[in-house]
Amino acid sequence: MDASDYKGRVAEAFHSAAPTYDRAGVEFFTPMGRRLAALAAPREGERVLDVGCGRGACLFPAAEAVGGSGRAVGIDIAPAMVDAVRREAAERGLAQVEAALMDAEHPEFDERAFDLVVGSFSIIFLAAAEVLPRYARLLVPGGRLAFSSPLFTEDVVPFMPPALEDVLTDDIVAAVPEEWRPRQAARRMCGWLYEEADIARTLRAAGFGRVRVVDEAAPMEIASGRDYVAWSHTQGMRLFWQWLPPGRARELTGRMVAAVEAARDADGRIRVDMPVRYVLAERTSD
Ligand SMILES: C[S@@+](CC[C@H](N)C(=O)[O-])C[C@H]1O[C@@H](n2cnc3c(N)ncnc32)[C@H](O)[C@@H]1O
Repeated sequence: MDASDYKGRVAEAFHSAAPTYDRAGVEFFTPMGRRLAALAAPREGERVLDVGCGRGACLFPAAEAVGGSGRAVGIDIAPAMVDAVRREAAERGLAQVEAALMDAEHPEFDERAFDLVVGSFSIIFLAAAEVLPRYARLLVPGGRLAFSSPLFTEDVVPFMPPALEDVLTDDIVAAVPEEWRPRQAARRMCGWLYEEADIARTLRAAGFGRVRVVDEAAPMEIASGRDYVAWSHTQGMRLFWQWLPPGRARELTGRMVAAVEAARDADGRIRVDMPVRYVLAERTSD
């Protein structure tokens, strides 16, 4: 699979997912984006770029923080995500929000146009070694970079809370072409995010310093097993679902519903933790 084929599939997956993305049945990206914005701490009047902004989970909290004198620009490769951000910005009267259809690997902005670049669960889809130096150039010296990703380990299944990982049996995984199997895809795209030393080395090479890594469990609130399955089709796992033969897809659906329902507590609520890694850095001076 070449890079443009991969990018096209990612764009199509999120374009189709946009209408219901994080809006039904499962609370995850929205609180996580808010948390990233809190850690990045945009200040009034600052100019913020959100790469792979989706429906604005991090962009809107950032826009509120920078206020009317600031600028909050979201870029995404999925047209329906960009449309959704524009609609919400207009509805909320947030004139400081702009959204553009743009490949985050080739951001078309002037050098030093931003004080802060954020990316909530989006850097994982990008060729980091190439894009991070471009983000450094978009920032003023001392400008900040803040992004989040799944907390990758050799065992963890990206986009799947540890409590539910057992639903992916070897047989189900084997039914998908190797390059789209979650652990293999994660290693290929995100190998630099597994070890803190690799993260620091990659960021230093791109022109960043003062690297800080914050690992936290993000609580995921799930309405029901069926809702979790529907939600899993709207995020990165969609790239896995698309390859599953119908029989295996039915099997995985059944296993997921059962596992999620088994996690219901005495109050009837389903809450599972998703380990998330937040990375903060500053652009070093020229
Ligand atoms: C998991 S979603 C996260 C969206 C949002 N940041 C959030 O936290 O809800 C990943 C987003 O990255 C976008 N994306 C992936 N590759 C991209 C690229 N090359 N350029 C721009 N956006 C991209 C997808 O379209 C999708 O909206």
